[in-house]
Order: sequence, then structure tokens, then C-alpha cells
Amino acid sequence: MASEDYDHVTLIEHPVIHRDLTILRDVNTSTADFRMALKRIAVILAYHALKELPLKSFRVQTPIEETTGYDIDQEVIVVPILRAGLGLSDALLQFIPDAKVGHVGMERDERTHQPVDYYSNIPEGVEEAMVLVVDPMLATGGSADDALSFLKKQGAQHLRFISLISAPEGLEKLRQKHPDVHTITAAVDEKLNDDAFIVPGLGDAGDRYFGTT
Ligand code: PRP
Repeated sequence: MASEDYDHVTLIEHPVIHRDLTILRDVNTSTADFRMALKRIAVILAYHALKELPLKSFRVQTPIEETTGYDIDQEVIVVPILRAGLGLSDALLQFIPDAKVGHVGMERDERTHQPVDYYSNIPEGVEEAMVLVVDPMLATGGSADDALSFLKKQGAQHLRFISLISAPEGLEKLRQKHPDVHTITAAVDEKLNDDAFIVPGLGDAGDRYFGTT
């Protein structure tokens, strides 16, 4: 697996990601295939996003002898931005089954392209936890910016943002407004169009994942 690190972004490169992104981009992909491809990429992104978790060591007895074992030494909180972020959060829970899950509900106003908040529920312990905010699409960055600002107001200090496809405009917004938050993404696309959709992108991830097109 290759990854390209810029100061605030890690672009994950993997043959499975290239194949699955193509499935996701294809307008003729069924809802079932879209879901499976998104979940496969999510596992690779999740694996990468968790790489910096601290460990604590302890002694463990194998059937042969005692040796050093490890456990993760930081609480993990996963925060999907509703709705589309839900498609990414299970992958993180596979690796960290006891992670708490918060929710931030945001919908982009189709006319103004501004995010509208409609729900939030953040678990306790957000101050010390590694907080992983997930949303497949980073377009203008308005939704991610709002979600990250909201979580910081709740006290979050160790934030990562995970997206499937990012627009340069969204990455730039996060770099300016949240230079402390590292983004892990599977693709950096060309640009936004006049409707603030990512080009070439994959359309509306939430609608395609939930079959509401
Ligand atoms: C999409 C996407 C992001 C947001 C990205 O959600 O999943 O949350 O738009 O755009 P931005 O970077 O310009 O804010 P949408 O509003 O379509 O809601 P949904 O997840 O319920 O489909």
C-alpha cells in the first residue's frame, strides 16, 4: 500500500481502492455493489487512520511462555456526518469494537451549498479520545468544517477526518481552518462544478448508498 503524505493530508493508494473507486464512480453501479465497494475502501482507510494510536504494554501468558502484549491506550470515538458518513463508520468499529459513536447531522442546502445542522449527539470523553470524523465526500468543506468546529467546542483535541473523495477546495478550507486536523482520503479529484459537486466525483454518496436517488 502506498500513501502520499502532504502536511495535512494522506492520500492512500491501493489497487483495491482504484478498482472500487471506479465502481463507485460508475453511474450504472447498483446500490448493492455501491455499498460493498464503499465498505471495502472504508476498511483500508480505517486501517490507515488508526495507525497512530498509542499502545500500552502488559505481560501475557502464551501456551508456551510469558511475553509482552499490547493494547490500545486511547479511547476512540467515531463521528459519522449523517447520512453518508454512516457507510464508513462500521469499518472503524471492526477494528475498535468498543469505540463510542457520536453523530452529527448535516445536510447541504442545495441552493446556497451551505451545511444545515439538524442533529448532534456526542458521547462523553471527547476531550481525551481520538475522534475520527467520517464522511465520504469533502466538497466545499463546509460540512466538515462545521462538524470539526462543533467537536472542538465540545472539547475534542485529537481529531482526524476521513473521506473517500476530496475536492481541492475542501482540502484547502480544512488546511486553513483546521490545520491541526489530518485528513485521510482515497482520492483528490479535480474541482467542484457550479453546483458544488465534486468533478468527476461519484454524485451524491448518501443518495447512492441509501438508494434514495
Ligand atoms: C454531502 C456529503 C457531505 C457534504 C459535502 O452530504 O456526504 O456531508 O454533502 O459537501 P460540502 O463539503 O460542500 O459540505 P449531503 O448534504 O448530500 O447529505 P446526505 O449525506 O444526507 O446525503
